[in-house]
Amino acid sequence: MNPFMGAGALGQAVDEFNGDNFDHGPEGFIGGGYIALRTTGGRPILQQHAVPEGTPKWGPAWKKAMRENYLKSASVATHGSVMSYRDSYLDLDPTYRDVYGNPLLRLTFDFHDNELARSKFLTDKAALIGKVDHDMMTRGEALYIDNCAGCHMDNGEGLASGFPPLAKSAPVQASAPATVLQAIIGGATVVATESRPTALAMPAFGWKLSDEEIADLATYIRNAWGNRAPVVSASDVAAIRNDITRKTAVK
Ligand code: HEC
Repeated sequence: MNPFMGAGALGQAVDEFNGDNFDHGPEGFIGGGYIALRTTGGRPILQQHAVPEGTPKWGPAWKKAMRENYLKSASVATHGSVMSYRDSYLDLDPTYRDVYGNPLLRLTFDFHDNELARSKFLTDKAALIGKVDHDMMTRGEALYIDNCAGCHMDNGEGLASGFPPLAKSAPVQASAPATVLQAIIGGATVVATESRPTALAMPAFGWKLSDEEIADLATYIRNAWGNRAPVVSASDVAAIRNDITRKTAVK
């Protein structure tokens, strides 16, 4: 990473969680925001100077950690919407005046539950995106080649004869990984139609792969071939597995 390349205007933003771009149903808040990574040039101050957790804030240990991490860190930020509220307003300050004797503009503001919930949602998403690590992708790719590429192809483009593409697929990149996990754990069947009388099936992999393996695999297909979506964790997999087991038990 070269911290001297960048001008503040250079960056990338994830817009999937902005405004109404995603399903708010289960989330309990309105509005959204973007997640962005910007490079601003090697500024001595106001620059992202990340050091590992637990590093002292000054002294030789801090300097050493700074030297070691200077070229290895970047900051990912979220920027979200704020609703209008009766108790958030601008008015003229009754006490303070500028040099011309005019009252200063006064800002009265606090975050409400909606903004706090929105911020937590965006920050969690940003953390998940930041955590897509190289090892997870390498393990996921190997699992993909062994188990999936036969039908969905190495390049994730599938086959027109009935194996759907995973590359650039909206369901595969959905912010919640449920669709992908249900397909991998429980398999899927394409309903037979008159023009395609034999139903094509995707076998279930839930019996064969561990939660960790399915998390690696799902993270891989959600981030390979130009796809981008939050990391899937082993606990996400366990939750969907439970869900499927419960539904099957009810039947
Ligand atoms: C024997 C062929 C076959 C194999 C192997 C296979 N799939 Fe599938 N897959 C299919 C078919 C057919 C469908 C379509 C099912 C449907 O539409 O209901 C499908 C659907 C999917 C979907 C849903 C796509 C969508 O657009 O909703 C995902 C995700 C998926 N497969 C991922 C995988 C992964 C990951 C693996 C490896 C663990 C894998 N598949 C292995 C045949 C296969």
